[in-house]
Amino acid sequence: MFALNLVGNMSVTSATMDKVTFDVKRVRADFPILSRKIGKNPLTYLDNGASSQKPSIVIETIASYYRDHHANIHRGVHRLSEEATTAYEKSREQVARFLNAKEARECVFTRNTTESINLVASSWGAANLREGDEIVLSEMEHHANIVPWQLIAERTGAVIRVVPVTPEGTLRMDVFHALLSPKTRLVAITHVSNSLGTINPVREIIDAAHKAGALVLLDGAQSSAHFPIDVQALDADFFVFSSHKVCGPTGMGILYGKADILNAMPPYQSGGDMIRVVDFAGTTFREIPERFEAGTPHIAGAIALGVALDYVKALQPGAHAHEQELLRYATERLSAIPGLRIIGTAPEKVSVISFLLGSVHPLDVGTMLDADGIAVRTGHHCTMPLMKALGITGTVRASFAFYNTLEEVNRLAASLEQIRKMF
Ligand code: ALA
Repeated sequence: MFALNLVGNMSVTSATMDKVTFDVKRVRADFPILSRKIGKNPLTYLDNGASSQKPSIVIETIASYYRDHHANIHRGVHRLSEEATTAYEKSREQVARFLNAKEARECVFTRNTTESINLVASSWGAANLREGDEIVLSEMEHHANIVPWQLIAERTGAVIRVVPVTPEGTLRMDVFHALLSPKTRLVAITHVSNSLGTINPVREIIDAAHKAGALVLLDGAQSSAHFPIDVQALDADFFVFSSHKVCGPTGMGILYGKADILNAMPPYQSGGDMIRVVDFAGTTFREIPERFEAGTPHIAGAIALGVALDYVKALQPGAHAHEQELLRYATERLSAIPGLRIIGTAPEKVSVISFLLGSVHPLDVGTMLDADGIAVRTGHHCTMPLMKALGITGTVRASFAFYNTLEEVNRLAASLEQIRKMF
């Protein structure tokens, strides 16, 4: 009945390919931007840690929604409002399947990972943290998983404890275990380091935190695009991620929380759609997830996110295996460049390589790579405490997605060789 559903089915057909022999050429054809040129060079997009590109199916879903179905959700009795509401709530089911959440209502739509963390810090934090309670973070956290906790710690008198990193870029698990105590109320930790690609031992972290009586928030901004997530198997209390890093639109994020924990949390923002009864004598609020979705949301974004997640999920496990091959090959090629130092050599990594090229400033390397059509991120990657711990101010970061190729690794290596020779 609904054009969006048809488009959704087409996406899965296009994405469901031989899962063992991953057909990267065919996948690339789904992403119009990948055939762009930057000057005379083909685009080599290696900035997927910052944001991934979008397949046609996601772009078409957004256009189709606005062209044929748009109206406000949860409000109208008319046909368009019903269609938009159905598609919006269908997306919540798709998110729940992507995360293997027990129930769709455990998946709250937000603007991004940052907003999801702010929601938990403000709502759960204000209701539960008391003077002297402890929040455990790590040195490799993104600023978005540090600053909201600093703000709520200031307001409540809670104390932040920090797990250091090793020079290889792994967590000091001995220190983590030693930091846990009956005072620990929450461990907020990244699943995967955005700067280094390290995959953290989150099962061990969650088990130990639960034994100490603490909750765990996993920052999944950098894991959700790279391998399947199972929040039930992980037993995560909160899991947060952004749509735009998983082939979905910007301005959309997810807060997953266990139903009983979310249901006990007070509202974060208030207004329309999140209330049951408003009266000047007092207002009552709706259950989850609506309690946390005040105001008209990013309806098109939510619908397109559902499509993006189905698309990405259908590519596994081939996509992950392909990315690991890219990581292996890129590590080999870049390690062979004299003077190039890879920053972050954990045994378990996603397809991210941070590096320094001799004493050339990362910004200069990034600018020269751009002249060859190669997009990377340079700088501190919003992880200033991590850079400080590693004794550097920044890196060049090449972050690969499943649509990148071995040929693109060759282009990166060749361009870096040229830059090295120039300096
Ligand atoms: N957090 C994103 C990154 O790592 C923007 O680049």
